[in-house]
Amino acid sequence: MHNEIPSVGLVGWRGMVGSVLMQRMQDEGDFGRINPVFFSTSNAGGPAPAFAAAAGGDPGTLQDAYDLQALGKLGIIVTAQGGDYTSAVYPKLRSAGWDGLWIDAASTLRMKDDAIIVLDPVNRNVIDAGLDRGIRNFVGGNCTVSCMLIGLGGLFRNGLVEWGTSMTYQAASGGGARHMRELLNQFGALHSAVSAPLQDPASAILEIDRAVLAAQRSPDLDSSQFGAPLAGSLLPWIDADLGNGQSKEEWKNGAETNKILGTTDANRILMDGLCVRVGTMRSHSQALTLKLREDLSVPEIESLLANDNKWATVVPNTKAASLEGLTPVAASGSLEIPVGRIRKLEMGPEYISAFTVGDQLLWGAAEPLRRMLNIAIGAL
Ligand SMILES: NC(=O)c1ccc[n+]([C@@H]2O[C@H](COP(=O)([O-])OP(=O)(O)OC[C@H]3O[C@@H](n4cnc5c(N)ncnc54)[C@H](OP(=O)(O)O)[C@@H]3O)[C@@H](O)[C@H]2O)c1
Repeated sequence: MHNEIPSVGLVGWRGMVGSVLMQRMQDEGDFGRINPVFFSTSNAGGPAPAFAAAAGGDPGTLQDAYDLQALGKLGIIVTAQGGDYTSAVYPKLRSAGWDGLWIDAASTLRMKDDAIIVLDPVNRNVIDAGLDRGIRNFVGGNCTVSCMLIGLGGLFRNGLVEWGTSMTYQAASGGGARHMRELLNQFGALHSAVSAPLQDPASAILEIDRAVLAAQRSPDLDSSQFGAPLAGSLLPWIDADLGNGQSKEEWKNGAETNKILGTTDANRILMDGLCVRVGTMRSHSQALTLKLREDLSVPEIESLLANDNKWATVVPNTKAASLEGLTPVAASGSLEIPVGRIRKLEMGPEYISAFTVGDQLLWGAAEPLRRMLNIAIGAL
């Protein structure tokens, strides 16, 4: 660890990803290793968060997240503010000659040649090589891709996957704090529409069903964040329309998987699938079909997965174990990534299914950033 305590700018700390990041940094004692400087896009001059204060002390004030001079004084900036912020601030900061480390949750810079996608349990070698050659931009990966690679690192990192599909079931929190509120408000509105007949066991279920559908289709239901009602429904499109039938979220799967793993054109892993928003609060799930390069037995696969890193947890492929340990409710708030439903498919001995669920706010967002900060300051 370096002797001097580094000053680190923190932007986007009160959003969904930022809040989880701040909690993890407190849990792991990271604030004892840095001198944090808090920024805001909406409340400059307001009080910095209370947890930033030394015991009983003054936490200081929030700085303006668009103030290039204030940002330019820092050796490291960690941002979970979002892509619009990165696009607005990052190029100006670099043009002004800033050569600090930019650690970012947004996708804006991910695929740039001068940026590395960070997921150190999977690609620490890529991160270290990047630091050695002077790379200054370290970006967290897409949430589903990162969770998939932690859960199934034992297959991906050993070059055992020829191709795969990932069919996702992504939580409302993937869209941020306001999306979670909207989903809960929608659930509340649906329940309000039928609370009286629900309490009467003799009421007709079709009447309840009709009233719920009417509430879902009502213009009064606020769907402004998701663009369509999500409560009691699902949305089979996430992120931008690339115009070729694929969503940007789907494109990220193949692009980021290969960038994170540092594959070459010759050993590129073909990954694709469909990404779907569901009405879960937290934790993204995905159903995978993988074509392996070898005919491995299920116990061999399970052992590779369980031994790759300390967070991948194999769930036995039984109904009881799956319902207990392989759901968003089970996975939320934990760094563990359960992987289950592993079995050989009818298509042939190299084809397997798997289902994995991970707290996308942890391994899919905050944790790789937190760990990258610690790598940068020599603490990991
Ligand atoms: N959510 C995920 O699962 C996830 C996963 C991976 C990557 N990411 C990426 O991480 C970035 C940030 O995503 P996010 O989900 O954290 O976004 P978010 O919850 O919408 O927070 C972003 C910013 O919104 C502002 N904000 C306005 N109203 C707010 C409110 N009521 N509560 C909290 N914040 C509010 C805050 O900025 P001020 O304090 O400056 O006003 C906050 O920093 C995005 O680029 C996203 O794509 C997200």
